[in-house]
Amino acid sequence: MTKILNGDKLAIKIRKEISKEIENIKKKKKRIPHLGIILSGTNSSSLTYVNSKIKECKNIGLQSTLVHLPEYSSEHDILKEIQRMNKDPLIDGFIVQLPLQKHINQNNIILSINPKKDVDGFHPENFGKMSLNMKAFFPATALGILTLLEKNKIKISGKHTVVIGRSNIVGRPISILMSRRKDIGNSTVTLTHSSTPNIEYYTKQADIIITAVGIPGFLKGEMIKKGSIVVDVGITRIQNGKKFYFKGDVDFNSVYGKASYLTPVPGGVGPMTRIMLIKNTLIAALKNRE
Ligand code: GUN
Repeated sequence: MTKILNGDKLAIKIRKEISKEIENIKKKKKRIPHLGIILSGTNSSSLTYVNSKIKECKNIGLQSTLVHLPEYSSEHDILKEIQRMNKDPLIDGFIVQLPLQKHINQNNIILSINPKKDVDGFHPENFGKMSLNMKAFFPATALGILTLLEKNKIKISGKHTVVIGRSNIVGRPISILMSRRKDIGNSTVTLTHSSTPNIEYYTKQADIIITAVGIPGFLKGEMIKKGSIVVDVGITRIQNGKKFYFKGDVDFNSVYGKASYLTPVPGGVGPMTRIMLIKNTLIAALKNRE
């Protein structure tokens, strides 16, 4: 039997806890936490992600400000907005939605974000601290996956985790966190990617598979070991005439029944990512005001 790891349900629980903290902040007549979002261009997935982050802020009682720059904005335009948010005392934390267009140097963008406001955890200061087991902002998706596993009492220590995809947003940070010498970690990690020959060879040996490649239905039942734990980070919008739906990296029909645990798409990792971003913003607000 496969147990579905319900991210929506867990996110509701965490949302209630965060809402309580925000009520306390309000009672003390303090300013409510404020998330800034910089979005450049009109990438449809980015627009969907950003809208859902803003909606999450509203639901929870957090303030948010979106700066939406037009398609083909220059690197200089984006850097100017970053400097504005870095300096603005009313912004507790902010993110620059990725991916950026090809003419923008993503490294320059990430390096210019004040690490204290980097609630995505993408700045090298936060990423380096995370890698060295120090306190820092951790990337929201990785944090969401760890929380989903932890709260469902899934033992990670001693297991073999195979991560598919080496992006800086998901694959790389989750492979670091899964191997940390920590209760939530301590697993043996294999990081596979587009140049790994015969990915199946690795996934068949995995106790835990975390897939983040963005290829709908990529991971088939025949590629996994019976009883493995499968975390699906991929979310691709599939147009079907005038309608659309979302599909993950996992071929649900063949994996369901063979895996012991499986995250659905939508409703698995996605809501956990959003709530972790809010949690990071709350932490930034409390910390930066100390
Ligand atoms: N694009 C896809 N996921 C993310 C994320 O977690 N943060 C940012 N900034 N961009 C993304």
